[in-house]
Amino acid sequence: MSVLKVLKFPHPILREKCEPVISWDNRLQKLIDDMTETMYAAYGSVGLAASQVGETTRLIVLDTTSKTTREDYKVLINPTIVEASRNKTMREGCLSFPEYLANIKRATKVTFTAFDRHGELKTYTVQGLEAIAIQHEIDHLDGVLMIDRISSLKTDWIRRQPKGETALEFTQNTPTGNTYVEPSESQPLAMQSALVAPISDPNRRSLPL
Ligand code: NI
Repeated sequence: MSVLKVLKFPHPILREKCEPVISWDNRLQKLIDDMTETMYAAYGSVGLAASQVGETTRLIVLDTTSKTTREDYKVLINPTIVEASRNKTMREGCLSFPEYLANIKRATKVTFTAFDRHGELKTYTVQGLEAIAIQHEIDHLDGVLMIDRISSLKTDWIRRQPKGETALEFTQNTPTGNTYVEPSESQPLAMQSALVAPISDPNRRSLPL
């Protein structure tokens, strides 16, 4: 298994709509293993979508518990949300936006179907962090990013570190195709994590997506 490079905004692959998996071949199994290792290697990460490692295929790995127990570890292929509860605004982060957090409205409970790594179709009902995470990751598979989901750059887009020379500056109008600049790889590991927490509870440890 290998730890893969996680693409950062505004890499154009992050904007692509991923294709459904049609073959459960060795290449898919290797991608699952590598994405799993990549997710666990990223400090605080609770989920990863294939497009974040440059593969435009509808595959997500998710674990909102811990690397040690892997209690809620899931491999989710061709996921589809079939039922969603009312929305609540939560704060979340993304490995592809290591310097920002966003306030985003998401359903607090969702039911979805997905195939596992052996091709078996399963149905899950999840809530809380896991519900937010699956919505965030399915967005990635559709080329939708955190910045598309906020209501206001002023109030819902939060910088995670003081202004520095390595910080990326962008607005909702930033072009994404021909102006890609590789972000610095020298950020401390802790800065590459992302958080998800209720806005009203600043002390709650949050999850990376
Ligand atoms: Ni993300």
